[in-house]
Amino acid sequence: MKNFLEIEDIAKTYLSDDGKSETKVVLPLSLGIDEGEMVMFLGPSGCGKTTLMRIIGGLETRDRGSIRLAGDELDGPDRRRGMVFQSYSSFPWLSVRDNIKFGTRYRTDVSAAEKDDIADHYMAMVGLSKYADFYTNRISGGMRQRVAIARTLASSPDVLLMDEPFGALDALTREHLQFQLMDINTSEKKTTVFVTHDVEEAILLANRIIIFSSRPARIIREIDVDAVIPAEDRRNGVADSKTFFDLRTEVHDIIRQEYAHTLEDA
Ligand SMILES: Nc1ncnc2c1ncn2[C@@H]1O[C@H](COP(=O)(O)OP(=O)(O)OP(=O)(O)O)[C@@H](O)[C@H]1O
Ligand SMILES: [Mg+2]
Repeated sequence: MKNFLEIEDIAKTYLSDDGKSETKVVLPLSLGIDEGEMVMFLGPSGCGKTTLMRIIGGLETRDRGSIRLAGDELDGPDRRRGMVFQSYSSFPWLSVRDNIKFGTRYRTDVSAAEKDDIADHYMAMVGLSKYADFYTNRISGGMRQRVAIARTLASSPDVLLMDEPFGALDALTREHLQFQLMDINTSEKKTTVFVTHDVEEAILLANRIIIFSSRPARIIREIDVDAVIPAEDRRNGVADSKTFFDLRTEVHDIIRQEYAHTLEDA
């Protein structure tokens, strides 16, 4: 049953600065996510994906509805949900290694020595071992984003919330991290919600793709990617196959149609 992470009847409206007009960003929306499932969100820019992610992460209020994790009602942020944002966030007064280790500070399931190993493990995974002692104001934006990703992974949350985490990275680093994330998803069964604008990334990583309408976000389509291309095949590079190509075309067509609505409404 898809009820590990339960998003039920969530809605969000922003008031304009003068308080006179309202913008509906998320319609009443419900979604259930399995333990270990990787769900990819696709949708037009400005439709409300980040808002929804922040609501799921407990960083943004909602007008109505509830969020439950393994049956527990959630309000406000907690360590069970780890978020990687669209833009880089790191502590410039800490080194790369200490930024990543910071993610482990509240973990009680590992010893102090293991925390060092965990930090080193994820630092290597994102390819930053050579920069371990650099302060993060001395590394590039894409490298800072990798620090943020490693720090969140090191914190081992029950749910990973990733909002376009690879958007700022070069193609090869991005591909490397996509495969790393696939491995983590398989080996640790990490429940993940991931926003992307990249259709191929969505197909490559997803168990399920959710496509949103233009603002206010509602779900216009759910695609069970596992049923079309088994995750195993995707990992093994079946990405060139006709099935992959057909699915990509289908998803692009849905998005293109929705994008046309966005332009009409502008
Ligand atoms: N704090 C806020 N106050 C008022 N309006 C906001 C606020 N945050 C976001 N919005 C509005 O809500 C809408 C949805 O924004 P959001 O960032 O969730 O979109 P998105 O789907 O993540 O877009 P993108 O794909 O470009 O990242 C936008 O119209 C935005 O202007
Ligand atoms: Mg966004």
